[in-house]
Amino acid sequence: MKAIGIACSPRRNGNSEVLVREVLNGAGDGAAKVFRPNEMKIRGCQGCYACKEKGRCVVEDDMQELYREIEEADIVVFGTPIYMYGVASQFKVVLDRLFAFLGPEPDFKSSLPNGKRAVLVVSQGYEDAQEYGAHIAQMKESLRVVGFDEVKTLVASGLNELGEAAKRLPLVQEARMLGRALRSA
Ligand SMILES: Cc1cc2nc3c(=O)[nH]c(=O)nc-3n(C[C@H](O)[C@H](O)[C@H](O)COP(=O)(O)O)c2cc1C
Repeated sequence: MKAIGIACSPRRNGNSEVLVREVLNGAGDGAAKVFRPNEMKIRGCQGCYACKEKGRCVVEDDMQELYREIEEADIVVFGTPIYMYGVASQFKVVLDRLFAFLGPEPDFKSSLPNGKRAVLVVSQGYEDAQEYGAHIAQMKESLRVVGFDEVKTLVASGLNELGEAAKRLPLVQEARMLGRALRSA
């Protein structure tokens, strides 16, 4: 079983990254690679639709490495903070580029192999974990459409200081349990 993390916060060891790593621990792959798109060269989707003809994205940047890693992984753990009522732009750039896994109209069938599972870890300052629920549900659905058979979410609310998630033991436990459940799924 292969698991990877894609930690989209610009903050190293920020709350979302801490929890991404705990999900990976729970999945039994604490040594899994964790990619940090903020430190990679990944352009936004250019809207060229070349992927629909060629079956692959033609933008030659660091996203090509992530495409390969996602193709090989059984479990992908995404992490993003909430920025201005939505996911951070670093996550959205990666999500938009995952459009390349979808085939042409009308069915936009995913080219990813069956059986992939994903977790979307979201950290936010606001206390109410439901506050961005509709938006997070849309992001979750986008990951499902891209080709993840199962997508779980972990919303970590009321977090602001760098890495304070590590001190919230119930949250850490929840992240590990999510990972464990995915491993045995
Ligand atoms: C530019 C910016 C915008 C933010 N906007 C929101 C917001 O709209 N709602 C919210 O609850 N928290 C907001 N936050 C707080 C972060 O979501 C919160 O600190 C989160 O835990 C950071 O996660 P990280 O440590 O993984 O980067 C914002 C933070 C920044 C820097």
